[in-house]
Amino acid sequence: MQLKNDESRYGVVAQLFHWAIVALIIVQFILANRADNLPLGPAKIGVLAQHKSFGITILALVLLRLIWRWLNVVPGEPKDVPTWQRIAARFSHVALYALLLITPIVGWLMSSARNFPVSWFGLVTLPDFIRPSKPAYEFLHQTHELLAGTLFWLALLHVAAALKHHFWDKDDVLRRMLPVKLTQETTRS
Ligand code: HEM
Ligand code: HEM
Repeated sequence: MQLKNDESRYGVVAQLFHWAIVALIIVQFILANRADNLPLGPAKIGVLAQHKSFGITILALVLLRLIWRWLNVVPGEPKDVPTWQRIAARFSHVALYALLLITPIVGWLMSSARNFPVSWFGLVTLPDFIRPSKPAYEFLHQTHELLAGTLFWLALLHVAAALKHHFWDKDDVLRRMLPVKLTQETTRS
């Protein structure tokens, strides 16, 4: 399989970025949920430290993924996809990328506002871009929760669209994000 994308499918690198980030997002929700159910104490702080480290990893992977995307062609939609679906797909991909970038940045700022500097797996301590402040922490916490919730629902919609393409339209949209053979020629929009 080729490393780079071509006009009909995503290459190995783009696929690895996509699926690694999907796995890490799932880990993020599991860790956030686990932390929510723990009383304030060392166990909760430990789980949140992992959540922060994986979140910063997502931020770095999304930045690398966007650079890789910029260096590649992006496969177009199959030619019989209606215009509204093309627009919805483009809009939702932009929104997903925005959420994948902004959610961790807000998490990082929130930790600084709470006066808990962010450490990446205990190896690197990241700088604080804002000073400790309770009102800022509360605002950023609410924003982080709202962004994560939006990401959750938009990702579900995105999954539903991918499954609709595969099982209903029976096209190659899902296959081209998987390391499997395409069944038909996909054309650019
Ligand atoms: C895409 C990445 C991320 C996702 C999807 C995500 C998701 C979430 C969710 C769902 C919660 C629970 C919200 C609540 O009910 O309080 C949460 C809490 C939290 N997140 Fe994230 N997060 C991400 C990245 C980060 C990053 C990078 C940091 C910090 C560097 C961070 C720091 C926190 C903290 C400290 C809390 C607990 C807030 C509190 O209860 O005081 N998150 N996150
Ligand atoms: C956290 C969950 C997910 C996020 C944040 C996410 C994000 C994205 C983004 C941003 C793209 C655009 C890629 C680009 O053109 O640069 C994309 C494409 C794609 N995703 Fe996901 N994804 C998620 C989960 C899934 C799942 C579970 C599936 C499969 C059921 C899936 C199937 C696809 C497919 C097939 C494409 C290619 C769409 C096309 O070629 O038009 N995604 N995803």
